[in-house]
Amino acid sequence: MIRLYVNVDHVATIREARKTFEPDPLQAALMAESAGAHGITVHLREDRRHIQDHDVDRIRKGISTPMNLEMAPVDEMVEIAIRNRPTQISLVPEKRQEITTEGGLDVGGMKNSLIAIKRKIEPFKIKFSLFVDPVEDIITCARDLGADSIEINTGRYSESDGEELQTQLLAIKTASRHASQLGLKVFAGHGLKVSNVELISAIPEIEELNIGHSLVANSVYVGLKQAVMDMREAIDRGVQKRT
Ligand code: PXP
Repeated sequence: MIRLYVNVDHVATIREARKTFEPDPLQAALMAESAGAHGITVHLREDRRHIQDHDVDRIRKGISTPMNLEMAPVDEMVEIAIRNRPTQISLVPEKRQEITTEGGLDVGGMKNSLIAIKRKIEPFKIKFSLFVDPVEDIITCARDLGADSIEINTGRYSESDGEELQTQLLAIKTASRHASQLGLKVFAGHGLKVSNVELISAIPEIEELNIGHSLVANSVYVGLKQAVMDMREAIDRGVQKRT
């Protein structure tokens, strides 16, 4: 079994293109749940380019599966997390000019501030996850500072083909095994789609996937429910190949 968390950010992207009320990311989250999503992910970016503060509040209250709040490791977001009590926060590096998240956290370089965030959220029983590149040293640092889980950045893998894809896949496999041996839960995400998810879901240590853009893109053609079901089928094909 592997859990699919559906990221509804880009439903909000379409809404924000007109600064109107539709499409509603909460309604999309509810549809994703009914199509088999195990959780809902939202990324409240500092520039509020898609998800807004009120979305976090409404989605948190409206869904029946866990909420994963992706956020930059900054005080403003920590306060919002404490107010909204998501099941989990996933810390991601954020740069204003980037189109999407470009890489994992520099866990070693930010050790003290990450520890401080963990201490602040601990009393509220919010799980603490770090988005990292598939690099063993970074993952060891994540374990050292007490992360519950890591989300391995599959962005590089998703952009590759041929030999480079195999190199990236191997890095993700090695990193997943390393993390699991250290006692971390292993999640993955970024750039995953029906055509490339199978090789990732076949990695036995991976428990959870965060997928957004390709689901919203496919929903234009087939509807969100069908897009989520197609993704689940592709994920399950990979799970069946686990050794
Ligand atoms: N995981 C993290 C940490 C992300 O920042 C994103 C993008 O918001 C995703 C997963 C989902 O990536 P995608 O939208 O490419 O499926």
